[in-house]
Amino acid sequence: MKLLRMAACASLTFNAAVAQEMSYGEAEYLNSCAVCHGVDGKGDGPLRDLLIKRPADLTHLAERNGGTFPYSRVFATIDGRYAIPSHGNREMPVWGYQFLEDDAKTYGPTGGEVVTTERIHNLAGYIETLQH
Ligand code: HEC
Repeated sequence: MKLLRMAACASLTFNAAVAQEMSYGEAEYLNSCAVCHGVDGKGDGPLRDLLIKRPADLTHLAERNGGTFPYSRVFATIDGRYAIPSHGNREMPVWGYQFLEDDAKTYGPTGGEVVTTERIHNLAGYIETLQH
């Protein structure tokens, strides 16, 4: 019991530290996305050369959409579970499944889905801040 409480405290402290330094979306982005899309979102992460398709430049999505950030499309692309495969295989992981696998372990199937959805919203919101 004591151990559990200590673990809970440690994770609270960690979250607070992260919140102070950077948003959750940014932390998650650097953790899961920067290897392909690059730290600044320009599509030049270190894994780029191993992929067939170039990871998308995430900094001009609004510009290429007539000035409006395509939030729902970005959300759906990151989630990936409901995407219709258009041009061949998707090289990007299907984050909806990837996140849910972890989140369901901690929060159960229903709670896990809520947390997964929130993580994707945080990411889409963070990408919105990268627009040039
Ligand atoms: C293994 C490399 C890889 C990782 C990791 C990755 N992506 Fe991607 N991503 C791609 C590639 C490649 C594309 C280009 C489209 C495709 O593959 O169909 C893409 C496309 C996208 C698009 C579509 C942009 C558009 O033009 O509409 C978004 C949004 C996106 N990624 C966000 C993310 C986010 C957020 C993460 C982290 C949770 C992430 N990606 C992690 C490789 C990656």
